[in-house]
Amino acid sequence: MKKFIAFLVVVFIGIQFIPVERTNPPVVSDIDAPSDIKDILRKACYDCHSNETNWAWYTKIAPMSLLTAKDVEEGRKHLNFSEWGNYTSKTEQIKEEIWEEVREEQMPPWMYRVSHGESKLTPEEKNLLRNWATNK
Ligand code: HEC
Repeated sequence: MKKFIAFLVVVFIGIQFIPVERTNPPVVSDIDAPSDIKDILRKACYDCHSNETNWAWYTKIAPMSLLTAKDVEEGRKHLNFSEWGNYTSKTEQIKEEIWEEVREEQMPPWMYRVSHGESKLTPEEKNLLRNWATNK
């Protein structure tokens, strides 16, 4: 048992040396939305879908560092609120997708909701988001 724990400690220390990129590239064109909508997106989505990721302390410790960096990379690839200008031709479609993900509770991912209580959207916040996304 002692040997096994020693082994785990060595592995844990070893993986700290795997290089991880925690980038925050410049904000090119932040989303143009009313401030209440922006507040919601900022607290629930920006960590993965913007260039303004808050790299919390645990994102500096492997294996969480590897998982979070991957999430952010994937998240930005699918949707980046800091590059909203890239979507001018399909803003309406993207807004629909945003509401769909939130309505179906796919986004923010449950793991994130558990560790970031403030990202769990209230019914009122969801209403605001729906009205914005569907232009009501
Ligand atoms: C912990 C990171 C994280 C957070 C926070 C997060 N997302 Fe995502 N999101 C991802 C990842 C990773 C993907 C791409 C893979 C997937 O679809 O699961 C994604 C994909 C998406 C997509 C594209 C789906 C598709 O099929 O292309 C939309 C739309 C989206 N997210 C909206 C949101 C919204 C809106 C919020 C906030 C309410 C949010 N996300 C919060 C990580 C996140």
